[in-house]
Amino acid sequence: MRVIIHPDSESASRRAAEFIAELVRRKPDCVLGLATGSTPLGTYRELIRMHRDDGLDFSQVTTFNLDEYVGLSPVHPQSYRQFMQQGLFEHINVDPNRTHVPDGRALDFETHCRLYEQQIAEAGGIDLQVLGLGSDGHIAFNAPGSSLGSRTRLKSLTGETIRDNARFFGSEDKVPRLAVTMGVGTILESRRCLLLAFGTHKAFAVRETVEGPVTAQITASALQMHRDVCCLFDEAAGRLLVRRDYYNEVEHAQRLLEQGELRALGIGRSEV
Ligand code: GLP
Repeated sequence: MRVIIHPDSESASRRAAEFIAELVRRKPDCVLGLATGSTPLGTYRELIRMHRDDGLDFSQVTTFNLDEYVGLSPVHPQSYRQFMQQGLFEHINVDPNRTHVPDGRALDFETHCRLYEQQIAEAGGIDLQVLGLGSDGHIAFNAPGSSLGSRTRLKSLTGETIRDNARFFGSEDKVPRLAVTMGVGTILESRRCLLLAFGTHKAFAVRETVEGPVTAQITASALQMHRDVCCLFDEAAGRLLVRRDYYNEVEHAQRLLEQGELRALGIGRSEV
Protein backbone atom coordinates (compact mmCIF):
# COMPACT_ATOMS: atom_id res chain seq x y z
CA MET A 1 0.00 0.00 0.00
CA ARG A 2 1.24 3.46 -0.83
CA VAL A 3 0.10 5.79 1.96
CA ILE A 4 0.17 9.52 1.28
CA ILE A 5 -0.83 11.90 4.06
CA HIS A 6 -1.67 15.42 2.94
CA PRO A 7 -2.01 18.39 5.29
CA ASP A 8 -5.67 18.85 4.33
CA SER A 9 -8.47 17.26 2.33
CA GLU A 10 -8.31 19.94 -0.40
CA SER A 11 -4.74 19.10 -1.41
CA ALA A 12 -5.44 15.35 -1.06
CA SER A 13 -8.45 15.74 -3.36
CA ARG A 14 -6.36 17.58 -5.93
CA ARG A 15 -3.80 14.79 -5.78
CA ALA A 16 -6.54 12.16 -6.23
CA ALA A 17 -7.88 14.03 -9.26
CA GLU A 18 -4.37 14.14 -10.71
CA PHE A 19 -4.09 10.33 -10.35
CA ILE A 20 -7.36 9.90 -12.22
CA ALA A 21 -6.53 12.52 -14.86
CA GLU A 22 -3.15 10.91 -15.52
CA LEU A 23 -4.94 7.63 -16.32
CA VAL A 24 -7.55 9.34 -18.51
CA ARG A 25 -4.79 11.07 -20.51
CA ARG A 26 -2.72 7.89 -20.86
CA LYS A 27 -5.71 5.62 -21.61
CA PRO A 28 -8.62 7.72 -22.94
CA ASP A 29 -10.97 4.69 -23.03
CA CYS A 30 -10.20 3.63 -19.47
CA VAL A 31 -12.76 2.17 -17.08
CA LEU A 32 -13.20 4.11 -13.83
CA GLY A 33 -14.83 2.73 -10.72
CA LEU A 34 -16.49 5.58 -8.85
CA ALA A 35 -17.66 6.11 -5.30
CA THR A 36 -20.27 8.32 -3.65
CA GLY A 37 -20.35 9.93 -0.21
CA SER A 38 -18.95 13.30 0.79
CA THR A 39 -15.31 12.18 0.58
CA PRO A 40 -14.79 12.05 -3.23
CA LEU A 41 -16.73 15.29 -3.90
CA GLY A 42 -13.62 17.50 -3.83
CA THR A 43 -11.90 15.13 -6.25
CA TYR A 44 -14.87 15.30 -8.62
CA ARG A 45 -14.91 19.11 -8.39
CA GLU A 46 -11.25 19.15 -9.40
CA LEU A 47 -11.92 16.77 -12.33
CA ILE A 48 -14.71 19.10 -13.47
CA ARG A 49 -12.27 22.01 -13.30
CA MET A 50 -9.67 20.06 -15.30
CA HIS A 51 -12.31 19.27 -17.94
CA ARG A 52 -13.37 22.93 -18.14
CA ASP A 53 -9.97 24.62 -17.96
CA ASP A 54 -7.57 22.02 -19.35
CA GLY A 55 -9.87 20.13 -21.73
CA LEU A 56 -9.57 16.80 -19.89
CA ASP A 57 -11.55 14.52 -22.18
CA PHE A 58 -13.94 11.91 -20.76
CA SER A 59 -15.73 11.12 -24.02
CA GLN A 60 -14.42 7.56 -24.24
CA VAL A 61 -14.31 6.81 -20.52
CA THR A 62 -16.61 4.14 -19.04
CA THR A 63 -17.67 4.32 -15.39
CA PHE A 64 -19.10 1.85 -12.88
CA ASN A 65 -20.33 3.00 -9.49
CA LEU A 66 -19.88 0.90 -6.40
CA ASP A 67 -23.39 0.87 -5.05
CA GLU A 68 -26.97 2.14 -4.90
CA TYR A 69 -29.75 2.24 -2.32
CA VAL A 70 -32.57 -0.24 -2.83
CA GLY A 71 -35.97 1.32 -3.44
CA LEU A 72 -34.79 4.71 -4.73
CA SER A 73 -35.45 5.62 -8.34
CA PRO A 74 -32.54 7.04 -10.35
CA VAL A 75 -34.12 10.52 -10.11
CA HIS A 76 -34.62 10.42 -6.35
CA PRO A 77 -32.53 13.30 -4.93
CA GLN A 78 -30.72 10.97 -2.50
CA SER A 79 -30.07 8.17 -4.99
CA TYR A 80 -26.45 7.59 -5.83
CA ARG A 81 -27.33 7.97 -9.54
CA GLN A 82 -28.48 11.53 -8.82
CA PHE A 83 -25.44 12.14 -6.67
CA MET A 84 -23.19 11.20 -9.59
CA GLN A 85 -25.24 13.18 -12.11
CA GLN A 86 -25.02 16.35 -10.06
CA GLY A 87 -21.58 15.83 -8.58
CA LEU A 88 -19.79 14.86 -11.78
CA PHE A 89 -21.49 13.45 -14.88
CA GLU A 90 -23.49 16.56 -15.86
CA HIS A 91 -20.37 18.71 -15.75
CA ILE A 92 -18.02 16.65 -17.91
CA ASN A 93 -18.31 15.17 -21.39
CA VAL A 94 -18.77 11.55 -20.36
CA ASP A 95 -21.18 9.61 -22.60
CA PRO A 96 -24.28 8.91 -20.42
CA ASN A 97 -24.53 5.43 -21.99
CA ARG A 98 -21.13 4.60 -20.61
CA THR A 99 -22.01 5.49 -17.01
CA HIS A 100 -23.25 2.61 -14.86
CA VAL A 101 -24.82 2.74 -11.40
CA PRO A 102 -26.65 -0.31 -10.01
CA ASP A 103 -30.44 -0.01 -10.28
CA GLY A 104 -32.02 0.26 -6.83
CA ARG A 105 -35.42 -0.56 -8.29
CA ALA A 106 -34.50 -3.82 -10.00
CA LEU A 107 -37.06 -6.53 -9.28
CA ASP A 108 -34.80 -9.49 -9.82
CA PHE A 109 -31.67 -8.45 -7.92
CA GLU A 110 -29.86 -11.71 -8.45
CA THR A 111 -30.00 -11.27 -12.21
CA HIS A 112 -29.29 -7.55 -11.99
CA CYS A 113 -26.16 -8.11 -9.87
CA ARG A 114 -24.92 -10.86 -12.17
CA LEU A 115 -25.42 -8.60 -15.20
CA TYR A 116 -23.58 -5.74 -13.47
CA GLU A 117 -20.56 -7.99 -12.94
CA GLN A 118 -20.84 -9.15 -16.55
CA GLN A 119 -20.89 -5.55 -17.81
CA ILE A 120 -17.72 -4.78 -15.85
CA ALA A 121 -16.04 -7.85 -17.35
CA GLU A 122 -17.20 -6.95 -20.88
CA ALA A 123 -15.81 -3.44 -20.48
CA GLY A 124 -12.42 -5.04 -19.81
CA GLY A 125 -12.45 -4.71 -16.00
CA ILE A 126 -11.96 -1.62 -13.86
CA ASP A 127 -8.66 0.21 -14.35
CA LEU A 128 -8.93 2.46 -11.30
CA GLN A 129 -11.43 2.13 -8.47
CA VAL A 130 -12.04 5.18 -6.28
CA LEU A 131 -13.06 4.23 -2.74
CA GLY A 132 -14.29 6.09 0.33
CA LEU A 133 -14.17 4.55 3.79
CA GLY A 134 -17.04 4.00 6.22
CA SER A 135 -16.37 4.95 9.84
CA ASP A 136 -16.49 1.21 10.68
CA GLY A 137 -13.93 0.44 7.97
CA HIS A 138 -16.31 -0.65 5.22
CA ILE A 139 -15.85 -0.10 1.48
CA ALA A 140 -18.87 0.39 -0.79
CA PHE A 141 -21.66 -1.13 1.35
CA ASN A 142 -19.64 -4.14 2.46
CA ALA A 143 -20.53 -4.04 6.13
CA PRO A 144 -18.36 -5.72 8.77
CA GLY A 145 -18.62 -9.47 8.33
CA SER A 146 -18.97 -9.34 4.54
CA SER A 147 -17.05 -12.09 2.82
CA LEU A 148 -13.74 -10.82 1.48
CA GLY A 149 -14.54 -12.82 -1.67
CA SER A 150 -18.03 -11.32 -2.06
CA ARG A 151 -19.46 -10.23 -5.41
CA THR A 152 -22.10 -7.63 -6.36
CA ARG A 153 -25.20 -8.39 -4.30
CA LEU A 154 -27.86 -7.07 -1.93
CA LYS A 155 -26.63 -6.02 1.53
CA SER A 156 -28.34 -4.74 4.67
CA LEU A 157 -26.96 -1.47 6.00
CA THR A 158 -25.65 -1.50 9.57
CA GLY A 159 -27.01 0.82 12.26
CA GLU A 160 -23.75 2.81 12.18
CA THR A 161 -23.96 3.37 8.40
CA ILE A 162 -27.65 4.32 8.68
CA ARG A 163 -26.74 6.88 11.37
CA ASP A 164 -23.76 8.17 9.32
CA ASN A 165 -25.87 8.60 6.18
CA ALA A 166 -28.96 10.04 7.90
CA ARG A 167 -27.55 13.55 7.32
CA PHE A 168 -28.32 13.19 3.60
CA PHE A 169 -31.92 12.09 4.24
CA GLY A 170 -32.93 14.39 7.10
CA SER A 171 -33.61 11.53 9.53
CA GLU A 172 -32.54 7.95 10.21
CA ASP A 173 -35.91 6.40 9.41
CA LYS A 174 -35.75 7.74 5.84
CA VAL A 175 -32.45 5.93 5.08
CA PRO A 176 -33.08 2.77 2.99
CA ARG A 177 -32.21 -0.44 4.85
CA LEU A 178 -30.83 -2.28 1.82
CA ALA A 179 -28.35 -1.51 -0.93
CA VAL A 180 -26.91 -3.18 -4.03
CA THR A 181 -23.16 -3.15 -3.73
CA MET A 182 -20.10 -4.42 -5.50
CA GLY A 183 -18.48 -7.09 -3.34
CA VAL A 184 -15.04 -6.94 -1.79
CA GLY A 185 -13.95 -9.59 -4.30
CA THR A 186 -15.26 -7.44 -7.17
CA ILE A 187 -13.33 -4.42 -5.87
CA LEU A 188 -10.12 -6.43 -5.43
CA GLU A 189 -10.21 -7.30 -9.15
CA SER A 190 -9.75 -3.63 -10.12
CA ARG A 191 -6.28 -3.03 -11.50
CA ARG A 192 -5.67 -0.15 -9.14
CA CYS A 193 -7.48 1.24 -6.09
CA LEU A 194 -7.47 4.76 -4.76
CA LEU A 195 -8.67 4.91 -1.15
CA LEU A 196 -9.66 8.33 0.22
CA ALA A 197 -10.43 9.19 3.84
CA PHE A 198 -10.67 12.61 5.46
CA GLY A 199 -11.46 13.83 8.95
CA THR A 200 -10.83 12.72 12.48
CA HIS A 201 -13.96 10.48 12.50
CA LYS A 202 -12.18 8.23 9.98
CA ALA A 203 -8.93 7.88 11.97
CA PHE A 204 -9.85 4.56 13.63
CA ALA A 205 -11.00 3.01 10.34
CA VAL A 206 -7.84 4.25 8.59
CA ARG A 207 -5.55 2.71 11.21
CA GLU A 208 -7.38 -0.63 11.12
CA THR A 209 -7.42 -0.65 7.31
CA VAL A 210 -3.71 0.05 6.88
CA GLU A 211 -2.07 -1.34 10.02
CA GLY A 212 -4.60 -3.80 11.45
CA PRO A 213 -5.00 -7.45 10.50
CA VAL A 214 -6.80 -8.42 7.30
CA THR A 215 -10.27 -9.20 8.56
CA ALA A 216 -13.83 -9.31 7.29
CA GLN A 217 -14.69 -7.13 10.31
CA ILE A 218 -12.91 -4.22 8.55
CA THR A 219 -13.65 -4.92 4.91
CA ALA A 220 -11.26 -2.20 3.68
CA SER A 221 -8.38 -4.17 5.27
CA ALA A 222 -8.72 -6.62 2.34
CA LEU A 223 -6.98 -3.92 0.28
CA GLN A 224 -3.74 -5.03 1.97
CA MET A 225 -3.96 -8.07 -0.32
CA HIS A 226 -4.16 -5.91 -3.47
CA ARG A 227 -0.95 -5.22 -5.34
CA ASP A 228 -1.65 -1.61 -6.33
CA VAL A 229 -3.43 0.55 -3.76
CA CYS A 230 -2.81 4.22 -3.17
CA CYS A 231 -4.26 5.72 0.03
CA LEU A 232 -4.75 9.46 0.25
CA PHE A 233 -5.56 10.73 3.73
CA ASP A 234 -5.59 14.13 5.36
CA GLU A 235 -3.72 14.71 8.64
CA ALA A 236 -6.84 14.19 10.74
CA ALA A 237 -7.68 10.80 9.21
CA GLY A 238 -4.03 9.67 9.38
CA ARG A 239 -3.43 10.78 12.98
CA LEU A 240 -3.59 7.27 14.54
CA LEU A 241 -1.22 5.63 12.05
CA VAL A 242 1.78 4.29 13.95
CA ARG A 243 4.12 4.24 10.95
CA ARG A 244 3.26 7.66 9.56
CA ASP A 245 6.91 8.86 9.64
CA TYR A 246 7.89 5.89 7.52
CA TYR A 247 5.06 6.54 5.02
CA ASN A 248 6.27 10.14 4.71
CA GLU A 249 9.85 8.95 4.08
CA VAL A 250 8.68 6.49 1.43
CA GLU A 251 6.65 9.24 -0.23
CA HIS A 252 9.65 11.57 -0.21
CA ALA A 253 11.80 8.88 -1.88
CA GLN A 254 9.04 8.13 -4.39
CA ARG A 255 8.90 11.82 -5.31
CA LEU A 256 12.68 11.92 -5.87
CA LEU A 257 12.46 8.79 -8.03
CA GLU A 258 9.66 10.29 -10.14
CA GLN A 259 11.70 13.48 -10.60
CA GLY A 260 14.74 11.46 -11.63
CA GLU A 261 16.77 12.66 -8.63
CA LEU A 262 18.54 9.32 -8.40
CA ARG A 263 21.75 10.60 -6.79
CA ALA A 264 19.81 12.04 -3.87
CA LEU A 265 18.64 8.47 -3.22
CA GLY A 266 22.15 7.04 -3.40
CA ILE A 267 21.49 5.33 -6.75
CA GLY A 268 24.57 5.26 -9.01
CA ARG A 269 26.83 6.53 -6.23
CA SER A 270 29.43 4.02 -5.21
CA GLU A 271 31.03 4.46 -1.82
CA VAL A 272 33.79 2.13 -0.74
C1 GLP B 1 -21.39 4.94 2.32
C2 GLP B 1 -20.96 4.56 0.92
C3 GLP B 1 -19.47 4.35 0.85
C4 GLP B 1 -18.77 5.57 1.42
C5 GLP B 1 -19.15 5.77 2.86
C6 GLP B 1 -18.47 6.97 3.50
O1 GLP B 1 -21.45 3.85 3.17
N1 GLP B 1 -21.63 3.38 0.47
O2 GLP B 1 -19.07 4.11 -0.49
O3 GLP B 1 -17.37 5.39 1.32
O4 GLP B 1 -20.57 5.97 2.90
O5 GLP B 1 -19.14 8.14 3.18
P1 GLP B 1 -18.54 9.60 3.37
O6 GLP B 1 -17.54 9.78 2.27
O7 GLP B 1 -19.71 10.52 3.21
O8 GLP B 1 -17.93 9.65 4.71
